[in-house]
Amino acid sequence: MGNSLLRRKNVKQSLLDTEEPQHQLTRSLSALDLTVFGVGVIIGTGIFVLTGTVAKDNAGPATALSFVVAGVVCALAALCYAEFASTVPVAGSAYTFSYISLGELPAWLIGWDLVLELALGAAVVAVGWSGYVRSLMDNAGWVLPDALGGREGADGFGFDILAAGLVLLITVILVAGMKLSARVTAVVVAIKVAVVLIVIVAGSFLIKSSNWSPFIPPQQKVEAGSGLDTPLIQLLIGWAPSNFGVMGVFTGASVVFFAFIGFDIVATAAEETRRPQRDVPRGILGSLFICTALYVAVSIVVTGMQNYRELSVDAPLADAFKANGHPFYAGVISFGAAVGLTTVCLIILLGQTRVFFAMSRDGLLPRFFSQVHPRFRTPHRPTILLGAIIAVVAGFTSLSELAELVNIGTLVAFMVVSVSVLVLRRTRPDLPRAFRTPWVPVLPVLAAAASLWLMLNLPAETWLRFGAWMLVGLTVYVLYGRTHSRLNTTENRGPDTLEKRTGDARDS
Ligand code: ALA
Repeated sequence: MGNSLLRRKNVKQSLLDTEEPQHQLTRSLSALDLTVFGVGVIIGTGIFVLTGTVAKDNAGPATALSFVVAGVVCALAALCYAEFASTVPVAGSAYTFSYISLGELPAWLIGWDLVLELALGAAVVAVGWSGYVRSLMDNAGWVLPDALGGREGADGFGFDILAAGLVLLITVILVAGMKLSARVTAVVVAIKVAVVLIVIVAGSFLIKSSNWSPFIPPQQKVEAGSGLDTPLIQLLIGWAPSNFGVMGVFTGASVVFFAFIGFDIVATAAEETRRPQRDVPRGILGSLFICTALYVAVSIVVTGMQNYRELSVDAPLADAFKANGHPFYAGVISFGAAVGLTTVCLIILLGQTRVFFAMSRDGLLPRFFSQVHPRFRTPHRPTILLGAIIAVVAGFTSLSELAELVNIGTLVAFMVVSVSVLVLRRTRPDLPRAFRTPWVPVLPVLAAAASLWLMLNLPAETWLRFGAWMLVGLTVYVLYGRTHSRLNTTENRGPDTLEKRTGDARDS
């Protein structure tokens, strides 16, 4: 059994899977397409919403430093992702990478982890979208009843009806198989980047430098609560729970890290890239660099426009303009944010279906989930099931709690990918690697350590929730995946069946 838990998918077979003509995705994307796709999915709720929350609760004007820290961690991980994506350019991202290098159980856990990341990530983006739509409605004088405007509504009951509605609408779009054309994606990305540039340029004329002083607000003790909302590192070291100060910059980094999620999704497009070995690393690193520069500029400008204690948590970029007496800019920003966030939510939900596809192709999830709709040819069952769950979660849960859970899941995936680079270099030194992570083993070790450091800065309760999710995943694997895995059935029936069965799964 020990062996079967670590049985590995063959690299050659994984590549062959993608070469069968009837199952081939078109290789049409260039480095520029990937960069546009990357910027399209990366810029979202992180910069539009979490900037305000983190400035207010954790880091003040030093939120810009939190973005730098998170950006560096992502760049380290990106260099590892890039080697993997250029060596094994098949759909499924970290899940596929780890199936090949580490074995089935770690791969299953990563796949399960990605489901959490993508499902809750979509919920976070939907909640962020709802904040900007409400800000837009507010401009027009329409106000939703408190109870339907978010989790903390009147009398303690709150359901974010707009966020839930968006998720359901996107679910219908995905089931119907409507795709964003490259042109629509490009227009939306242009609108989103334009809005971010408006914030930076127009906002820079409204800066009061007194708002930046002190740039790193002094550390503040937090009233003792349950302790579970304290960053784990503070509990482990036995420090009194605190906000702001230098540790606040790191806590902030562990939250705004959400703003960078998405570059890993670029790696999942490797199978559709013309020259993956060259273009995937370029696309990943290029989009990451552009986003980091924009994030740092936006957070510096916004905390200069309005004192960090007064920033709004629903639509901070637009509301900072309102507070400065510029409702027109606020309206333009809210409109652009709402348009931009819609596509981020769609791409993340779509990414989820890809991971499901890869997992059910390997037999780790029931075939029930990979049977396509007779007319639309889309995996409608998991889309509807997960869409309904995500809509409820988006309606009832607080944005930062959700984002923290997404972040811990993504950081675990980063650690696994970094370690996998080391493992694959040792076990398969012969594979051609068009992109090689520099300074191995130092860089992957640093990437794993930096990811762990950010995880330690997340609240203890986030660790508990994540642990519970992974425990459920482990149970599902033991009860189902281990015996239904295609590698298991192949081992029992002889090696020649793998290719055929893999092909069958792709038909479905
Ligand atoms: N990075 C994406 C966002 O901030 C997921 O919304």
